[in-house]
Order: sequence, then structure tokens, then C-alpha cells
Amino acid sequence: MEYINLGKTGLKISRIGLGAWQFGGDAWGGPYEYGIAKEVIAKSVELGINFIDTAAVYGRGRSEEFVGRAIRELGGIRDHVVIATKIPGDWHRYDDVLKAARRSRERLGVDVIDLLQLHWPACWHNVPICETMKAMEKLVDDGVIRYIGVSNYPLQLLEAARSCLKKTDIVSSQNRYNLIERDAEKELLPYLQREGGITLIAWSPLAKGAVTGKYSPENRPGGVTLGKTSRYSILIILGR
Ligand SMILES: NC(=O)c1ccc[n+]([C@@H]2O[C@H](COP(=O)([O-])OP(=O)(O)OC[C@H]3O[C@@H](n4cnc5c(N)ncnc54)[C@H](OP(=O)(O)O)[C@@H]3O)[C@@H](O)[C@H]2O)c1
Repeated sequence: MEYINLGKTGLKISRIGLGAWQFGGDAWGGPYEYGIAKEVIAKSVELGINFIDTAAVYGRGRSEEFVGRAIRELGGIRDHVVIATKIPGDWHRYDDVLKAARRSRERLGVDVIDLLQLHWPACWHNVPICETMKAMEKLVDDGVIRYIGVSNYPLQLLEAARSCLKKTDIVSSQNRYNLIERDAEKELLPYLQREGGITLIAWSPLAKGAVTGKYSPENRPGGVTLGKTSRYSILIILGR
């Protein structure tokens, strides 16, 4: 396994991460039970994966619970694993950010969340970006989270978010990026490469199985999301 820097944090994360979207939900043909999630996490860690990405909305909180519980039960791995979670765009007001982060921390059962990402912009609530970032910075100050990331932010909003931060910086940007969906190459990726220090975390790097030969015109995906039987998913981390 290759390990790369998470932004300029000094944390080393595996080039391939484990996505915990399916954990605890039934959109992928589930229910996706805890026992399977634990097995997937154990195998991933054994293979050298140390970056796990979950979110408050995955399985309506159950994914975070599964990740935290598995890490505790597997014993002795907490210090080697970087836990990333996200809070949805609906909760980006100052007080909501603080509340959501504390709830995620409780569900994960950890002292501190390594990376808290804003899952998508507060696009239909018109929350000023600096209000949200002020809350994120307070969470760092209070020791609730270690680092701040964004997800699905267009470049201009990412820049605006960075300009609101007084003491810290954004360390990662999580965006859809794979061989088929390459919009990130137009402006986001060149910006990140130019700036340095912000890691691109590519979500759906296998285009949900579309690039692996899993589907064909005769064998189309079913279910609410692509593919009814997914049991695991990955993320690819770009950077050095
Ligand atoms: N920030 C966001 O808004 C956002 C959005 C979506 C996802 N994500 C994150 O990204 C993670 C990955 O997303 P994803 O599940 O959409 O993407 P993905 O990794 O591109 O796709 C998962 C699919 O790829 C197949 N697959 C995985 N490894 C394979 C391999 N070695 N060979 C063949 N097929 C393989 C799986 O097949 P099987 O069905 O056989 O298991 C599954 O259908 C999520 O868990 C989540 O953490 C974030």
C-alpha cells in the first residue's frame, strides 16, 4: 500500500481508502449488517488501508456507529486509522454544525474526529459560507475535530471557504472523479495541484462499478442506487 500526506497535516493516509456508504443502509440491497461491516473493516486494515470515510447520513447514522464499534472491537487500531466523516448541507448553520459534529463524535465513539467534511454546500439554505467555517474552526479549537475538509464544493466556493478561516486551512476536497466523470480535471484538480496542501479524495472512483466490467447493456444495475449487491466500496486519494 502507498501512503500519502493528508494535506499538510503530517498524517499519512493510504492511497486507497474504504468508503462506508453502504454500512447500515439498505439502498444497496441490504440491510447491510454490522457483522459484514466489521469483516470489511478488518480485511481493509489488514491490507494496509488506514483511511475510512463515512458520513452522518450514511445509514442515517448507523454507518458511523458501525465504523466506531468495529474499530473499538478490533482493538489497538484506533491510533493507526484516520476516520473521516461528513455533515450534510442541511446542517451548515453555526449551531447546527456544532451539534452535528458532536453527534457524529458520539456515534463514532471517539475522542476526536480526524477529518470532518462538509458533505455538500448549503445550497438551498443560503447559509453564509463564513458562518459555517467559523463553526468548523471552533470545532478544531474545542478539540472535537482535528482537520477540516469539504466535499462537492465547486472551486469558487472552496476558495471562499478557505478565505473565511483564520487559524487553519482546508486539508481535503472530496469530489466525484473517475475515468468516466472527469469534470474535476477542468478547474478543481489544476487548482489543487497549483496550491498544494489540499488532498483530492475521489469518490466513486470506479464509477460505482461501471468501469470494472460489472455492468453491461444486458446486465444493468438495479436498486435505488447502482448495483443491488455491493458489499464494499473504495475511494482513491490523489496527491503525494
Ligand atoms: N462525498 C460524496 O458526496 C460521496 C458520494 C458518493 C460516495 N462517496 C464515498 O465514496 C465511496 C465510494 O463510492 P462508491 O461506492 O459510489 O464507488 P465505487 O468505489 O466507485 O464503486 C463501488 C462499486 O464498485 C464495485 N467494486 C469495488 N471494488 C471492485 C473491484 N476491485 N473490482 C470490481 N468491482 C469493484 C463494487 O462492486 P460490488 O457490488 O461487487 O461490491 C461496487 O459496485 C463511498 O463509500 C463514500 O465513502 C462520497
